[in-house]
Formats: sequence, structure tokens, C-alpha cells
Amino acid sequence: MERLDKILSATGRWSRREARELVRQGRVSVDGHLAVTAEEKIDSAACILVDGEMLAHEKYIYVMLHKPAGVLSATEDSRQPTVLDLLPPDWRRRGIAPVGRLDKDTEGLLLLTDDGALSHRLTSPRYHVDKVYYARVSGTLTMADAEAFAAGMILTDGLKCLPAELKILSPGECLVTLQEGKFHQVKRMLAHRGKPVTYLKRLSMGDLRLDETLAPGAYRLLTPEELTLISHSTPSKL
Ligand code: URA
Repeated sequence: MERLDKILSATGRWSRREARELVRQGRVSVDGHLAVTAEEKIDSAACILVDGEMLAHEKYIYVMLHKPAGVLSATEDSRQPTVLDLLPPDWRRRGIAPVGRLDKDTEGLLLLTDDGALSHRLTSPRYHVDKVYYARVSGTLTMADAEAFAAGMILTDGLKCLPAELKILSPGECLVTLQEGKFHQVKRMLAHRGKPVTYLKRLSMGDLRLDETLAPGAYRLLTPEELTLISHSTPSKL
């Protein structure tokens, strides 16, 4: 048994306040009866209609966040804001978590879900899902840098990197495609080439691209098409 406003807001389509408003406006029915109060506890298998349309009890939610700089890709932290602080509290209660991590100062595409199986598949080193980053660096990028990325480099601390793609956009800007996601990997690879990163943003993960209409800090649910794209993301094309 679950409160009606909680069930409605867990879909990600309405906040708790909006859910209560829907009920107040007489737009929600439960098992054929008009819902009178949003506090009502109802069976999670009940048939809920909103404006006559049946509510799909989604098993999982999938959220695209344009991660801003300054927040941690973690579910909680005692001192610093996390990406979950940007989302409705109901989603946190569902157990939503980021799929992989971006550094605190990195911006861009972050997928969050409570679907542990998909999250595991997308982050598992075995699957090698391509991640594309836009980076600005100090110094001048050269073809030798691109060749070193393509060959797969070994960093001074011994970290072995799989072959990656570096596409030079301008002397100080590039696109980096990685098939793995080791700690600070883009920054470490570019630093190894003597080109420290000054700005980093993730543009895509598998076939899922950041919706550029989302401002940093904004989020939305994945569309069914995007969910299909990310669920069927194939191993690296590198
Ligand atoms: N590589 C990095 O160095 N930082 C990120 O946040 C992601 C990839």
C-alpha cells in the first residue's frame, strides 16, 4: 500500500504538490472511483487513471541530467551537494543513482536510474560502451597526441589505457572517445601528453546524447526512444 501522491510523483511526471493538485481538481480515479484525497493509501496494483489515461506503473525510472560543475556524482555526501540534491526527493527514495561518475568539475551527460542491471551493464569494463567528451586544454594539440591516444597509452603511474580517439577541433579543443571510465581518465591522458584539461564536458554515452536544450542543472526523463538507444548500446566502435 502506498500513498496516492507518492505513486503519482514516483512516475517522474509530477511533483508531490502537482499530484495533490491533480487529485484536488478531480482528475484522478482509482479503480473506477474518483480519488478524493492524495493521502489515501492504495494498492500498488490499482488501476489509476489521470485525465482518463491509465497510469503506467513504471518499474524503473531513467533520468538524463545535464550535470553542472560543483556537484558530486554520488547519492549522498555529508558536506558537499550531490546530483541527487538537484532531483525530486521522491526519486531519491526510489533508490535512483548515477550511472558511473563524472568529476565534481566536469559537466554534461549523466544518466541516473534505479535499474541496477542496466547501470551495471553500462559501466562494466566488459561492455566497453563509448563515452564522448569535449575538452579544452592548455597547450597545442597535435597529431602526435591523437596517435598516442589511438595506440593506447601507459601513464607514468602505470595505468594502461585502451585505445581511444582524440579528434582535434582547434589547437586547444578536442573530442575524446573512451571505451572505459577510469578515475580522471580524460584528464590524466591529456595531462600525460602535457595538455592539462581546463574544461571537460561529457556529450554522450553509447548512443545516448546529451539534450543540449537542457541547461546545466536541468534534467528530464528519457524518452522511450532514448531508453531503447541506451539499452541496446553496443560495445565500443573504436
Ligand atoms: N574523465 C575525467 O578525467 N573526468 C571525468 O569526469 C570523466 C572522464
